[in-house]
Amino acid sequence: MNSKTVFLNTDEEMPLLGLGVYKAVGENEVETAILHAADAGYRLIDTASAYANEDGVGRGIAQCGIPRKDLFITTKIWNNAQRLGDITGAFNRSLERLQLDYIDLYLIHWPVPGCFLNTWKELVKLYESGRVRSIGVSNFEIRHLEELASVSDVVPAVNQIEFHPYWYQKELLEYCKSKGIQVQAYAPLARGAYLDNDIICVLATKYGKTPAQIGLRWALQKGVAVIPKSTNPQRIVSNGDIFDFEIEEEDMAYIDQLNQNFRSAGIPEDLQGTAF
Ligand SMILES: NC(=O)c1ccc[n+]([C@@H]2O[C@H](COP(=O)([O-])OP(=O)(O)OC[C@H]3O[C@@H](n4cnc5c(N)ncnc54)[C@H](OP(=O)(O)O)[C@@H]3O)[C@@H](O)[C@H]2O)c1
Repeated sequence: MNSKTVFLNTDEEMPLLGLGVYKAVGENEVETAILHAADAGYRLIDTASAYANEDGVGRGIAQCGIPRKDLFITTKIWNNAQRLGDITGAFNRSLERLQLDYIDLYLIHWPVPGCFLNTWKELVKLYESGRVRSIGVSNFEIRHLEELASVSDVVPAVNQIEFHPYWYQKELLEYCKSKGIQVQAYAPLARGAYLDNDIICVLATKYGKTPAQIGLRWALQKGVAVIPKSTNPQRIVSNGDIFDFEIEEEDMAYIDQLNQNFRSAGIPEDLQGTAF
């Protein structure tokens, strides 16, 4: 695999492909997935304190044989820590579980109302301390990004959002691009929802690729980084094999039309009912 990278607004280089590890909590499951991913050329791992597997991710990183400087590790601050204002404490605990002395990208997992502006100010301090190389956000809509900009000059390096052919968040993507915020697609496979779509399957046959590779490549060609999750060795390899072909413009337009604002990942219970 010839994985490509992008420079963030912090001048840090981030791989466009990463391994998502949400729900990889079985015995040695995440460690083994990281070893397979490292062999397949992945250099970015996306975890979160809420995934309850940072310690396993830490073991996987330690075992995978890739020098730390060549890896890009993302983790996220969860909602309860934001409500408690325990930002530095949560960050320190993540570092400890991951057995690392710095994080490449630290994200606000969700824009908790009444909290996320303060969380951002604390993340800026962590960034200035050098213990995190880039800071960003996740699940932020335009209104959240505008609120952030009204209190801070530091622009998020990344906005990690659900993004795939069934939820093409075009307006948000264009807004982020205009502000120099790199969009990173979570649930880029929509957890399988579009993999049997007729148009996706026709295009998979046309390009000699899998439906998953078509969806991931579509996102890449939109300028969006992807973090598909798999713990299956064959799927880890095939999900990474997306840098050797190009979807033609006409076919990109067919995929654009599949949008149905389909949300595959749920809103956390503690944010349901709030205008997060
Ligand atoms: N910031 C946020 O709020 C947020 C929310 C959700 C997710 N995320 C991050 O984004 C990552 C990816 O999202 P996700 O895990 O929700 O969903 P996803 O990557 O869209 O889909 C993962 C599911 O698809 C299966 N799969 C993987 N490759 C496949 C393939 N080639 N063909 C068919 N099925 C395949 C996986 O099973 P196998 O493992 O068996 O292959 C798994 O069940 C997460 O792991 C997490 O790191 C972030």
